[in-house]
Amino acid sequence: MSSKQKSLLKEARRPVWAEVDLSALAENFRAIRKFVNPPEEKRRTLRKILCIVKGNGYGHGGPQVAEALEKAGSDWFGVTCTEEGIAVREAGVRKPVLVLTSFWPGEESRLLEYDLTAVIHRCEQLKLLDRAAARVLAKKGARKGSKRVSFHLKMDTGMNRLGIAPSDMECFARQLDKCQHLELGGVFTHFASSEVLADTRVGQQTRQQEVRFYEALDRLRALGISPGIVHLANSAAIATRQETWADMVRPGAILYGYHPGYDPVELRPQIETKLPLKTVMSLRARIINIRNIPEGAGVGYNETFIAKRPSRIAVLAAGYGDGIHRSLGNRGSVLVRGTLAPIVGIISMDVTMIDVTDVPGAELGDVATIYGSDGEHVRPANVIARSIGTVTSDLLCAVSQRVPRLYFH
Ligand SMILES: Cc1ncc(COP(=O)(O)O)c(C=O)c1O
Repeated sequence: MSSKQKSLLKEARRPVWAEVDLSALAENFRAIRKFVNPPEEKRRTLRKILCIVKGNGYGHGGPQVAEALEKAGSDWFGVTCTEEGIAVREAGVRKPVLVLTSFWPGEESRLLEYDLTAVIHRCEQLKLLDRAAARVLAKKGARKGSKRVSFHLKMDTGMNRLGIAPSDMECFARQLDKCQHLELGGVFTHFASSEVLADTRVGQQTRQQEVRFYEALDRLRALGISPGIVHLANSAAIATRQETWADMVRPGAILYGYHPGYDPVELRPQIETKLPLKTVMSLRARIINIRNIPEGAGVGYNETFIAKRPSRIAVLAAGYGDGIHRSLGNRGSVLVRGTLAPIVGIISMDVTMIDVTDVPGAELGDVATIYGSDGEHVRPANVIARSIGTVTSDLLCAVSQRVPRLYFH
């Protein structure tokens, strides 16, 4: 642990905290920017990067990571809702912020007042946004018709979740034509399965989405509408599908140091070597109690762990209320003094029990790493996520508000 980290630790208000390495974050950003701007493409301008900082910056602290990424050179940011966007603006971030999950009626004026960029995923939203744009432009003293508010169109190309269908481009164009205060600044889609590279139905989905997307763009252009910035690629597409990079890419997981779980697994080492990343967050908790129990004693709610030998059981000051996934009870382990100590019993809201019988010298106050790095030892969140059948982002986003974040460079 560096002396800077040690001094930051003194600021921790609880014996549980998340360390966020902003240098690692900036390094990941630079690695991605370099990766999507290969010299052989000879682009006149760098391909843009929209850093995804929704979900409180995948648990790392949305405003803080956005601030650091703006300094590193991010062109755009992606949040899910107006409130997340406002938090990013209030941290002083000036670059455009795209509100990916759009707005609920009533939210649109506030979204525009904070200079956030709206996403339209249903044609009917255009009218609402146009009215809000008229109000906001008038408030800002713009002469009638002199300025327009930019928005992005989200297209549904096969995920069947959010977005306007390619077959509705004519309807979109007609509605847009009626909006005097709006202009289309970008068009995008989201991939359902870009990490699947196998020759299966799912593995072919990304290519199909891409084809539908570009057909719809052609239709838009034929209707006289310029799409503006075109963007499609999430982390997996960035790492594996150069043909999807378009004008801008939207990294989430890889910014925070984690590659998605590529399928087939044999491809993982090769892909991960081409785009090496650094883990940004380490979640840690101290041992706040430690006791010896005899063979046959039960630990925690419902005694789901019964000691098979005389054991030393330590209590960590963090539970599922802090972001330790409850399904890790009796399954996971944490790093203590460089040794993996198994989690025993059911994880409580505020505490987790671990078996430190095989951790020489373990004592009250010791720091356990739930995931992240501890000196030369690493406990990657993606390995833990896979062990309980979830994705890394699920674990990272789960780090709750009450866990202090310590930022260091
Ligand atoms: C629209 C959009 N783009 C990009 C991302 C980033 O995804 P990933 O974390 O896989 O890079 C997300 C995340 O879900 C998203 O919703």
